[in-house]
Amino acid sequence: MKRHNPMNIKRLMLICALLLCIPFMASTRAGAVPTATPSDASGWFVDLNRFSESAHRNFTCEVCHGDMRVQGQPHPDTRDTARLKREATRIYDYRRCGTCHRESYERYLRGSHAKALIEEKKATASKVLVADKLKAPTCGECHSAHYSRSHLSRAATGQEMTAACGACHPAQKATYLENYHGKVAVHLRDEASAYCTDCHGAHDCVSLKDRKAALAACQRCHPDAGERFAQFVIHPTTEGLAQDNKEKQKHVAIIKLVTVIMTIIVILVVGFFYGHSFLWLLRELHERLRKH
Ligand code: HEC
Ligand code: HEC
Ligand code: HEC
Ligand code: HEC
Ligand code: HEC
Ligand code: HEC
Repeated sequence: MKRHNPMNIKRLMLICALLLCIPFMASTRAGAVPTATPSDASGWFVDLNRFSESAHRNFTCEVCHGDMRVQGQPHPDTRDTARLKREATRIYDYRRCGTCHRESYERYLRGSHAKALIEEKKATASKVLVADKLKAPTCGECHSAHYSRSHLSRAATGQEMTAACGACHPAQKATYLENYHGKVAVHLRDEASAYCTDCHGAHDCVSLKDRKAALAACQRCHPDAGERFAQFVIHPTTEGLAQDNKEKQKHVAIIKLVTVIMTIIVILVVGFFYGHSFLWLLRELHERLRKH
């Protein structure tokens, strides 16, 4: 029996190569997803090294903080524990940003994030517990007044903001990163693709539930897009979805079903081929041992 030919060596090498691929394929999935939020939560310590590299490095503290007079005191009273416990972004009066950034500020006021902030203030004032309600973003939740840099590249801003938006909209972030746009824009830093703000706007916070609004957003980059194009589901999630939105619920259910079926098929196919190769390997070994 003369079975010791170069084909077997080749086959063995191929099997080894395939086995080596597994950890590699697993690691690319975990890729460079931004995790930290850019708006470094402010504290009483201000890192002047980082401040001196920020967009606002040329301003004195007084430009944004005034003379810090609070109730006649020249500085926030350090004995006022109630004030110290509150988050800085809930105390600061962001109308001051509007004196220099009028357009961003006015857009923000028109959007639903500003409306959510008004709701939040009303709820806290009347001491209603809104545990499952999201915290609304002020300028400070998306930008760090002390450390934000200016003139970042589109990709760098996009990556930072995916993390910032994702902190409050985790389901949308996850589905976006699974989507073609997110994969290419965030993981591959392809600036032609879409970041959250290309579809929703940065400050006006446009809802795209309305088909017409969605189509207009798509057409900015897909000029030939028609009515049907906007039906493509960017976020296959039911998180925060209205109960009566039966159409999207149906779409998400179908997408989930197809994903499960495809995953099972892939597992079966891969299992079959690895199993087959493994048995083949055993047979090969067996025959070799028998020869000796
Ligand atoms: C461009 C405007 C701006 C400038 C300049 C600025 N700050 Fe601030 N600062 C803010 C904002 C806005 C907040 C509220 C939190 C946030 O949005 O990050 C804040 C928060 C703070 C806090 C935290 C207060 C708290 O309740 O936790 C301290 C302390 C502080 N700033 C000190 C300084 C000092 C010191 C300087 C000068 C080196 C300075 N800031 C310069 C805008 C500014
Ligand atoms: C929900 C997150 C979010 C909030 C809240 C927000 N911004 Fe922005 N801002 C962004 C993003 C994202 C960009 C980057 C520009 C883009 O992607 O179009 C940006 C850009 C900017 C810029 C750069 C100029 C520009 O328009 O490109 C300024 C200035 C600015 N924001 C100021 C503010 C001020 C002032 C507020 C509060 C009134 C605020 N932002 C609230 C997300 C936010
Ligand atoms: C006194 C005027 C002034 C005030 C007040 C001010 N800014 Fe700015 N801000 C500037 C200037 C000027 C720049 C641009 C610096 C540059 O071009 O390098 C800037 C840049 C920025 C940028 C970066 C824009 C970019 O290029 O990506 C952000 C974000 C920003 N400011 C947010 C804020 C927020 C939030 C507040 C309120 C806490 C605020 N600013 C208050 C003058 C101001
Ligand atoms: C601090 C939390 C927070 C951050 C950060 C945040 N959001 Fe929101 N967002 C909210 C809240 C609260 C609402 C209003 C309640 C709701 O509809 O769920 C909202 C609503 C929305 C809506 C729906 C608007 C509507 O009219 O129905 C969109 C779209 C949206 N956000 C996009 C974004 C994008 C894009 C970013 C990043 C640039 C972002 N959000 C960052 C808390 C946040
Ligand atoms: C390619 C365009 C596109 C991108 C990029 C995108 N979205 Fe969306 N988003 C949509 C469309 C279309 C809808 C409406 C249909 C739906 O609910 O799926 C939507 C819905 C939403 C909603 C539900 C509320 C509403 O009224 O629209 C939120 C919140 C949201 N997106 C946040 C985000 C965040 C956060 C990111 C980035 C991590 C992001 N989106 C990236 C297109 C996009
Ligand atoms: C900021 C630009 C931008 C926006 C806005 C945008 N896209 Fe895209 N999209 C791209 C790019 C770039 C590609 C990859 C190149 C291509 O195929 O055109 C792409 C690819 C796609 C693809 C997969 C490839 C294909 O052509 O079949 C789909 C599906 C898609 N986009 C749907 C949408 C939908 C739906 C919207 C609106 C809700 C939207 N896009 C908004 C830039 C964008």
